[in-house]
Amino acid sequence: MRLSPVFQHLLVFISVLSLSRVQTTAEIFYPFGSAAGDTNNTAADDGSSSVIQLLSPFPFFGRTYQQIYVNNNGHLTFNQPSSAFVPYSFPARGSQDVIAGLWTDLDNRQRGVVSYHQYTSGNVLTRATQDINTHFPNLNFTASWVFVATWDKVAYFSSTNTETSFQVILIADSNFSFILMNYGEIAVTGHPVQAGYDTINSTHYIVINGSNSGSSISNLRNSSNVGVSGRWAFRVDGGLQISEVNPTSSTTTVSTAILPVTAKPAPAIFYPFGSTAGDKSNPFDDDGSSSVIQLLSPFPFFGRTYQQIYVNNNGHLTFDKPSSLYTPYSFPANRSQDIIAGLWTNLNNNVRGVISYQQYTDGNVLTRASQDINTHFPNLTSNASWVFVATWDKVAYFNFSSTETSFQVVLISDGNFSFILINYGDIAVTEHPVQAGYDTVNSTDYFVIPESNNGSIISNLRNSSNVNVTGRWVFRVDSGQHNISKETETTNSTVIGFRVRIKSFLDLTNSTNTNTVLQQIKREMVKYGLPNSIELKLRKVQRINP
Ligand SMILES: *[C@@H]1O[C@H](CO)[C@@H](O)[C@H](O)[C@H]1NC(C)=O
Ligand SMILES: *[C@@H]1O[C@H](CO)[C@@H](O)[C@H](O)[C@H]1NC(C)=O
Ligand SMILES: *[C@@H]1O[C@H](CO)[C@@H](O)[C@H](O)[C@H]1NC(C)=O
Ligand SMILES: *[C@@H]1O[C@H](CO)[C@@H](O)[C@H](O)[C@H]1NC(C)=O
Ligand SMILES: *[C@@H]1O[C@H](CO)[C@@H](O)[C@H](O)[C@H]1NC(C)=O
Ligand SMILES: *[C@@H]1O[C@H](CO)[C@@H](O)[C@H](O)[C@H]1NC(C)=O
Ligand SMILES: *[C@@H]1O[C@H](CO)[C@@H](O)[C@H](O)[C@H]1NC(C)=O
Ligand SMILES: *[C@@H]1O[C@H](CO)[C@@H](O)[C@H](O)[C@H]1NC(C)=O
Ligand SMILES: *[C@@H]1O[C@H](CO)[C@@H](O)[C@H](O)[C@H]1NC(C)=O
Ligand SMILES: *[C@@H]1O[C@H](CO)[C@@H](O)[C@H](O)[C@H]1NC(C)=O
Ligand SMILES: *[C@@H]1O[C@H](CO)[C@@H](O)[C@H](O)[C@H]1NC(C)=O
Ligand SMILES: *[C@@H]1O[C@H](CO)[C@@H](O)[C@H](O)[C@H]1NC(C)=O
Repeated sequence: MRLSPVFQHLLVFISVLSLSRVQTTAEIFYPFGSAAGDTNNTAADDGSSSVIQLLSPFPFFGRTYQQIYVNNNGHLTFNQPSSAFVPYSFPARGSQDVIAGLWTDLDNRQRGVVSYHQYTSGNVLTRATQDINTHFPNLNFTASWVFVATWDKVAYFSSTNTETSFQVILIADSNFSFILMNYGEIAVTGHPVQAGYDTINSTHYIVINGSNSGSSISNLRNSSNVGVSGRWAFRVDGGLQISEVNPTSSTTTVSTAILPVTAKPAPAIFYPFGSTAGDKSNPFDDDGSSSVIQLLSPFPFFGRTYQQIYVNNNGHLTFDKPSSLYTPYSFPANRSQDIIAGLWTNLNNNVRGVISYQQYTDGNVLTRASQDINTHFPNLTSNASWVFVATWDKVAYFNFSSTETSFQVVLISDGNFSFILINYGDIAVTEHPVQAGYDTVNSTDYFVIPESNNGSIISNLRNSSNVNVTGRWVFRVDSGQHNISKETETTNSTVIGFRVRIKSFLDLTNSTNTNTVLQQIKREMVKYGLPNSIELKLRKVQRINP
């Protein structure tokens, strides 16, 4: 049994924490707990406060709320309580306003107290007034209402020894409103996390730097946008755009502690794409498609010749009409359309990623395509005269806005011969149905890329190939007779990611239990044709559903 580095990290962290249990409350914290007369949330995993009637209305980006819920899993909602323990990523373009101090899988049954208090007079108002005038010096603001919600030394779910402390403070007068986040000790976690806020349709949102990676959130207490370690302050009445908030401040306190997010370069097998290549972009539209694209050279496809094509956002190409289908049908489908599926599934470029395309009739791309075809089909002599490149670059799956999936479908023709070349980059695991390959009218010709029709193992596509080039699949498609024989397929199945739902509750921090579960999973996978020699290793345990 080998645990992944993330998991080991967590265990190591727990042992360190248990040696230094006594923590001092950061000075930035507002009064809280029984000494401050707080109301406690019930100790209930995934629970919430009852509805809290606000003693003064709270303006939030154009809406004004009279009530709020403090949810045990580290976030505040206005219209209804939330038991969600897996945060969605901001911006989610969803239908609710949410304020996330640290939205993650917390469990106040095991450890810690979640409590809240609202004030309309006294020292807390004075302090809030001073803080806001310090952080936003030009407003001449006087707080008339303060709401303090505190998560004090609360455990993460299934990590009962961890302690995480933070506060979300709402401050308002009749015109202005603000959020302060105060971060104390924040334990590292393997649970997904999100901190900041997000509004209905994401017209306004903030993701606090470093807050969306569980392994770097311990830095929150050293980070700031107002020059006070551990504090983030935002004006939220909507009167001022985010970029204008205190423009002189930054995370300079300990900005080096925040892990930079570096964009990964595109895989070397990818053909040029994106705005630098002069691509045209598809509309940012869930289930949308390109307009009809007139081909600069006809494309032969198993006996038919096409003059036009559509690039459909959900990962496939069609010729006669656009397709908004987000659930693929299985090949061979014996239907009445020709279809080419790079990765036909429920993608959503409306939240993340770019889908773009371009066709070429001269230049380096033709040279590269000719070389590739002559390498992959050594018995053919083909000089590409036309290349069409469609790219899905870091596109999210529908409902999983933080996922990124990248692939290309390249059509190549010399007037007689025609080919499809599919390049796979990072492919996120998904539970949406998927299909990759091609299918023709009446399924006279079709190909399903092995394992491409199972969302839990498609991340392996970038390690597979039928031409001995990792991540690339190539097919001759002018007729059905000349495809690369099965024997040359070199699918490399050494890397498989999948998610498993376990119905009964087991303590998966106990390696005896994880071994039992892994053996059961292995038996299931062998039933699906995987060799008995496969070895399963645990990378991450995450509770995704009750
Ligand atoms: C809230 O919980 C704390 C810790 O369990 C306890 O000491 C305190 O009395 C509780 N407060 C109320 C008002 O029940
Ligand atoms: C700030 O507001 C107070 C009343 O709330 C007023 O007396 C004072 O003159 C104002 N100061 C400025 C600089 O506007
Ligand atoms: C709110 O704005 C209105 C209109 O600008 C103004 O008359 C009022 O004094 C403001 N209230 C406060 C508390 O600043
Ligand atoms: C959010 O977007 C939907 C769809 O575009 C629209 O119908 C709705 O009015 C928007 N809601 C708000 C509060 O802007
Ligand atoms: C987040 O960090 C990046 C660089 O690390 C910086 O450019 C950006 O301004 C930061 N954002 C905020 C809101 O501080
Ligand atoms: C964060 O700040 C605390 C004191 O507030 C300090 O002990 C710790 O070393 C700092 N961590 C980093 C990564 O700078
Ligand atoms: C495909 O469908 C047609 C009817 O549209 C049927 O005659 C034919 O047998 C089907 N072929 C296969 C392989 O199922
Ligand atoms: C390709 O050519 C080689 C020799 O150049 C020959 O041995 C092989 O059979 C040919 N393959 C096909 C599919 O024609
Ligand atoms: C597909 O099958 C149908 C029914 O068998 C037939 O009428 C049609 O001509 C076929 N289409 C093609 C392109 O073979
Ligand atoms: C696959 O490619 C590697 C180099 O990338 C080469 O060493 C190996 O011989 C190739 N295998 C086959 C079967 O062509
Ligand atoms: C499969 O991938 C592993 C790890 O990247 C590598 O060691 C192995 O040689 C690969 N096998 C094939 C057949 O490419
Ligand atoms: C792990 O679970 C097994 C049975 O599932 C139990 O016998 C064992 O005591 C547990 N180990 C620990 C350290 O809790």
